[in-house]
Amino acid sequence: MKDTQYQPRFIRHKDELEWLFMELYNDRHALRQLEDVMEAGYAARSGELKALDEQRLQDPDWYKRQDMLGMTMYTDLFAGTLNGLRERLPYLKEQGIRYLHLMPLLQMPRPHNDGGYAVEDFNRVDPKMGTNEDLAALTHSLRESGISLCLDFVMNHTASSHEWAMRAKAGEKAYQDMYFCYDDRTIPDQFEQTMPEVFPGTAPGNFSWCEEMNKWVLTTFHTYQWDLNYGNPAVFVEMVRSMLLLANLGVEVLRIDAVPYIWKQLGTSCRNLRQVHTIVRMVRMILECVCPAVILKGEVVMAPHELAAYFGTPEKPECHVLYNSSVMLNLWGALASGDVRLLKHQLDVFHSLPEHCWFVNYLRCHDDIGWGFDEAAERDMGIDPLMHKRYVYQFFAGDFPGSYAMGELYNFDPDTLDARTCGTTASLCGVEKALKEGDEAALDTAIDRVKMMHGIMMFQKGLPMLNCGDEIGQLNGWEYQQDETLAEDSRNLHRTAFSLENAALRTKEGTVQQRIFQAVADTAQVRNQPAFAPDSYVSTWDTGDRGVLALVRFGREQTMVGLFNFSAYDRRAVLNSLQGSFADLHTGEPVDVQHCLVPAYGVRYLVSKP
Ligand code: GLC
Repeated sequence: MKDTQYQPRFIRHKDELEWLFMELYNDRHALRQLEDVMEAGYAARSGELKALDEQRLQDPDWYKRQDMLGMTMYTDLFAGTLNGLRERLPYLKEQGIRYLHLMPLLQMPRPHNDGGYAVEDFNRVDPKMGTNEDLAALTHSLRESGISLCLDFVMNHTASSHEWAMRAKAGEKAYQDMYFCYDDRTIPDQFEQTMPEVFPGTAPGNFSWCEEMNKWVLTTFHTYQWDLNYGNPAVFVEMVRSMLLLANLGVEVLRIDAVPYIWKQLGTSCRNLRQVHTIVRMVRMILECVCPAVILKGEVVMAPHELAAYFGTPEKPECHVLYNSSVMLNLWGALASGDVRLLKHQLDVFHSLPEHCWFVNYLRCHDDIGWGFDEAAERDMGIDPLMHKRYVYQFFAGDFPGSYAMGELYNFDPDTLDARTCGTTASLCGVEKALKEGDEAALDTAIDRVKMMHGIMMFQKGLPMLNCGDEIGQLNGWEYQQDETLAEDSRNLHRTAFSLENAALRTKEGTVQQRIFQAVADTAQVRNQPAFAPDSYVSTWDTGDRGVLALVRFGREQTMVGLFNFSAYDRRAVLNSLQGSFADLHTGEPVDVQHCLVPAYGVRYLVSKP
């Protein structure tokens, strides 16, 4: 079916799309199939969503607006089912959420599914959570409430119980070709020489033996997650078909999961290869033709120098947004050390990226915190990278003298001594320990930390995203250790059921829940200031104190300074050569930027006086 809206968009991208596709696959038949899938995707798109497409084409920077506040959650942990979630929308609206990331909810095997990241059917909502119709109804209700839904698209692999894998196991060659299957260890061993491991502790190695097939299969993540072979055009075409199906159910943001891993080549790390960018660029163009309301969020947890490439260029863009994992881990690193130098360095790197680079900022999500500090920068500062990393993960596991944190290690690797960290924001900030010890003063300090961490997270350039439960100070769920299907993965420590009882306490004066909920709400409120306009220039500023970070937002109407004290002591920031006169946002009192007192773990906001 031809259409006056689709055709001009397709024609605009046709040359580049065909060029890239042929360069990668050299298969005209498959190209026709892709184009058919695109046309069919457009034909199946509802009038309501086509209207949204038109609206977004007029307002392409919608996701950069200053009132965008995100939240991420598991449907089942928050409300059981999609319909249950729909009933709990008032809770999200109360907080001004405009962007909701639901963790994977497509049909998955049980009990092992890597938190939904092993998908059995990309075209079907998991029956435990509802139906495709429930998902469409949810996205409709969300849109009416001004909330955009983000859903994972697990591109890199399928569950080993996916139909394709089952048919591959049954010996069908066409399906074996959708994966990487080998009769013996010759090629797997060659791959292993250059491919790092993702889960050295919980799923060592990159290949798994498949008894039914009598072959080795490439499984970068868990043995039950089979890597798809994107060198096969049928894989790409089928995955696009499923992606468009989700878009047509009303999903507005596709989180392309583990995208750096989707292309494999012997002799390489199999990460961030050139062909990955070709594929992401093609996906971007396909969405722009079929469903331009939909944007791409890349899950690229890689070294900062690899990140920028995933945005593409302004002429040939790839992802719209990426996770800001580098700054996130440096926020935690700074909190553990009371030293903001590495954090400042990381922010400076981000601020030097081109204008079109936009990040999702966050403190915690469903995953661990991986300690990928910038080692060259550490060495420049006289910091030993390994000693520093060990300090930080031991600190957050509560294994360092004086630590207030109660987290856990994740994937400790005895060979490299690498480890990552799990735990909720409140537990990592000391709330859990203070409550356990009944220490009121420690509790006050811990809540100050929670507030400060949210303050800096929301002050940065980009889209702030809360981890559901953090807004009421949810603590770790240690009971996961008693469940043998969960125990091996310590990320389950912070993947706990949302407690309605605790949430109800947010209105009861003086409770931890109320204090944290209020702190997060107050912080979100700060974003209404004119300096949060998306085109404001954001920069760090020297404070003369290693414990205090200053961020300055230079807006057209206002300059605003955020001061964040990561240390346990009151500090005085000296903002040399900052022009203009400032007042404290909350008290309205004038502030001398040469002598600016910031209490221990405190936040201060200064606004320019007109
Ligand atoms: C992403 C997810 C993580 C999952 C992995 C494999 O990194 O965030 O939870 O384990 O992909 O799909």
